[in-house]
Amino acid sequence: MPGLQTQSIHAGRSIDPSTGAVVPPLHTSTTFERDPDGEFSRRYAYIRAATPNRDSLEACITALEGGDETISFGSGMAASFGVFQALAPKDHVLLHRDVYYGVRELMEGFFAKWGLNHTLVDMRDIDEVRRASRPETKLFWVETPTNPLIEVVDIRAVAEAARAACALLVCENTFATPVLQRPFELGADIVVHSLTKYLGGHSDAMGGSVTLKNKPELVAQIRDFQHTGGAILSPFDCWLILRGVETLVPRVRLHCENARLIAEFLSTHKGVSKVRYPGLVNDPGHAVAKTQMKDFGGMLSFEIRGGRAEAFAFTAALKTIARATSLGGTHSLIEHRASIEGKTTRAPESLLRLSVGLEDANDLIHDLDQALGSII
Ligand SMILES: Cc1ncc(COP(=O)(O)O)c(C=O)c1O
Repeated sequence: MPGLQTQSIHAGRSIDPSTGAVVPPLHTSTTFERDPDGEFSRRYAYIRAATPNRDSLEACITALEGGDETISFGSGMAASFGVFQALAPKDHVLLHRDVYYGVRELMEGFFAKWGLNHTLVDMRDIDEVRRASRPETKLFWVETPTNPLIEVVDIRAVAEAARAACALLVCENTFATPVLQRPFELGADIVVHSLTKYLGGHSDAMGGSVTLKNKPELVAQIRDFQHTGGAILSPFDCWLILRGVETLVPRVRLHCENARLIAEFLSTHKGVSKVRYPGLVNDPGHAVAKTQMKDFGGMLSFEIRGGRAEAFAFTAALKTIARATSLGGTHSLIEHRASIEGKTTRAPESLLRLSVGLEDANDLIHDLDQALGSII
């Protein structure tokens, strides 16, 4: 089996047979020629059903995650939607309480109307998970590390609880990426990504994916939603994300290195009351992260001494780190999550989420230091 870095460059791609092009061509055609007998022996018929660039992207993610099949979508949210729509009314879903707030809103705002029930629990407490599980619980949904509290959930322990409940375990691997965390090896049945983040890696393309292992019927249901529901991403987005994936392994290494240095700097600064980063030995997620992650990732959150006003004053003083949403790209991005997430947020007003980019760590630390200096 080739290594992850080799797969991130080669899986799902080959030298183009008609031209010898090493870099995969971008196929923008929405339609493809039928054979004289009416068949499609070259596989492709219509862009919504399948395209060469989408096939490449899906095959590559399947290889990176070690699954059987990947179904890609127009966004990470559409990928989550693709999983939930495969359930039936009256089914029940258990989710970790700090899952991405968009997923919570999807459950509350859309799927509640469809009769899908859900419960938010602290999945770091396995007894709480077992107590919340019901006979009709079909899915356990874990995201780890979480957005925005950077909580770490023990995937093996939740997988065991899901198996005991005859439910499937979905693991959203967006923050960790397959470079740092291998959910299938830890017992997950389904791996979900927002490809908009680390896999694309350059904040210039949007997508989502669902990778499954040993679940052919579910593959068919989710594939049908992609195709019939039309929740697809464009060939250009596939192409861009796949280009981003080529450098995933070295990018993630540098994200981790920079994040570690920044977390250490922030944790000693008097203007910061708390740093949430599993790489810090006193972080509540450190012990579990050490057992299921190769490194601790590029995402951290920290709390400024004070509240909302101090948090905004601090971000206003930043010069290199951009005040912007999203994460996982080359640029460092900072965001006040409470004001973005609204009433249902679990983020304190003093909390800022930092997606540590690939700039020089010294420059990022200098920027944080000068902005902290301006508010204390
Ligand atoms: C952890 C996580 N999951 C899912 C999503 C949704 O992904 P997308 O914006 O690609 O729909 C996001 C977006 O920020 C996210 O941070």
